[in-house]
Amino acid sequence: MFPKKPPMGFNTWNTFGENINDEMIRQTADAMADTGLLKAGYEYLVIDDCWSERKRDAVTGKIIPDKNKFPNGMKAVSDYVHSKGLKFGMYSCAGVLTCAGYPGSFDHEFLDAETFAEYGADFLKYDYCFRPHDVNGTILYRRISMALQNCGRDILLSACNWGADNVHDWIRSTGSGMYRSTGDINDSFTSFRDIFLSQVNNFKYSAPGCFNDIDMLTVGMHNKGNVASAGCTDTEYRLEFALWCMAGAPLMLGCDVRSIDDTTLKLVTNPYLLRIDQDEECRPLFQVKGEGGNIYVRILSGGELAIMLVNFSEHKWPVFFPFEHIGLPTSVKKGLALTNAFTGENEGVEKEYIRKPVEPHDCAIYIAKVVDL
Ligand code: GLA
Repeated sequence: MFPKKPPMGFNTWNTFGENINDEMIRQTADAMADTGLLKAGYEYLVIDDCWSERKRDAVTGKIIPDKNKFPNGMKAVSDYVHSKGLKFGMYSCAGVLTCAGYPGSFDHEFLDAETFAEYGADFLKYDYCFRPHDVNGTILYRRISMALQNCGRDILLSACNWGADNVHDWIRSTGSGMYRSTGDINDSFTSFRDIFLSQVNNFKYSAPGCFNDIDMLTVGMHNKGNVASAGCTDTEYRLEFALWCMAGAPLMLGCDVRSIDDTTLKLVTNPYLLRIDQDEECRPLFQVKGEGGNIYVRILSGGELAIMLVNFSEHKWPVFFPFEHIGLPTSVKKGLALTNAFTGENEGVEKEYIRKPVEPHDCAIYIAKVVDL
């Protein structure tokens, strides 16, 4: 599958880990439809690791869904997910075992792709644990991609090799629709900050067809669940979400959407932030020189710009961003009309520069348009 925009959805891993089952998947599907998440674009409901029995079927060789967790089988779950208008995602691994020790797809790629097609899967996250080291990782992703492309269903391949083996150089050629470029996120400021910063120079590899995936969001987890850590404030969560949108990254929610709080729901369905993430031109951000913080800019379609001023430090600072660094010299009589992407409010026109105090671990984010002065 060739995604034209960064895929959006929900994945079980961050909150649920191995505690997944038929009922919570159905409740999650209900919640995605009822809260408006689906309408906002979150269309994939992905079951991550730990969904199967520990052994393949002795006769058919197929992976079997865990009979206690999924007593009705996986097709029934998938049918329910589809009945809500969502797409259904599954998980496997390029190695002999998944990262949590369940059967992996190594040497069973074509059989497993057929099995996922029988389930009605639309998405496959494909991990990198327990792979035989005499087989090149590139070949393993080519294999599963070949298997998926010939399984009779349009399935998006979501590669997950954590940025290993110079993945940026070859992953697009395998047919993957997105690819994890970093290690696993946890629910803390330092985790999402370091993940984002590690990829600032790699978003240029992200484009329609294959997107740089900086992991499932921890936004709204409030430190509950499988990747709990230091936890984040709401200010930090809005910074995380805004960074993912500036990155044009896939937006896979990781919080328990059955009990999503209003602040989180409003944030992740914010039309201005989603417009930045989902911009059809899918151009990479670039970092701009300035003072007092990190400044990122992205050219959007229709002549607009996304501008983000970030304060990763522990102190409040005025961030100074001169427009000459984005190709707007002071000699031309033009300025930027700013819309605050958090609130949708028009913040007037700035000429030559923005100077704005930004709180610690916070940001300002705008959609801007060049106007005559
Ligand atoms: C790896 C992946 C995670 C998750 C787990 C499941 O660590 O990077 O996103 O899928 O495996 O075991």
